[in-house]
Amino acid sequence: MKRLVLALDVYERERALEIAECTSDYLWAVKVNWPLIIGSGLKIIAELKQVTGLPIIADLKLADIPNTNRLIAEKVFEAGADYIIIHGFTGRESVKAVMELGKTIIIVEMSHPGAREFIQPVTDGFIELANELRPFGVIAPATRPERVAYIRSRLRPGIKILSPGVGAQGGKVGEVFKAGADYIIVGRSIYDSENPREAARRFHEEVEVWS
Ligand code: XMP
Repeated sequence: MKRLVLALDVYERERALEIAECTSDYLWAVKVNWPLIIGSGLKIIAELKQVTGLPIIADLKLADIPNTNRLIAEKVFEAGADYIIIHGFTGRESVKAVMELGKTIIIVEMSHPGAREFIQPVTDGFIELANELRPFGVIAPATRPERVAYIRSRLRPGIKILSPGVGAQGGKVGEVFKAGADYIIVGRSIYDSENPREAARRFHEEVEVWS
């Protein structure tokens, strides 16, 4: 089973397409973030879909008023994105505006150390929001598997957990799946490696142990 998401945080179109194509055998989806959209334009979403045949997650971390969230999401879904990642702290109406247009992933807790400052204290509210609105999934930190387990224990069954922070940020594949994640998100450890295909294959091999 494929449970690996490639975080393709490069600027250049050619490089992005090359890495996506050569790793696609081992991926469930490709995640694009602002660096790639800024560097290569929104059309990169359709191009990545074409070369990989995989779902594309747009990690926009949307956090605006409902109308602006809607205006952005409309164009990004139109461009071919299958999922959009959004923040929940702007309130349920902002989240609903995106959910009405397509599949949505809500950030419940982030993976970097700074998440402890303001996000972790209010994680419970984001879990409740997800349980109420039932998005496709939530984001939880691979860098803190105990928090993934906590989130899993409170999250309504069926809502997927996608977990960034494996590899470059220190998260371990086994620990995060044991804690209850459904998918891991890996960026630098694959796209910065000398042989991205081989790096993706190794992650996939570890992933298969947990499938
Ligand atoms: P690396 O290179 O650290 O890339 O493997 C991780 C990717 O995931 C994104 N990221 C997050 N996205 N919530 C998110 O929605 C998070 O907590 C989080 N932590 C990392 C990051 O932007 C990069 O694309």
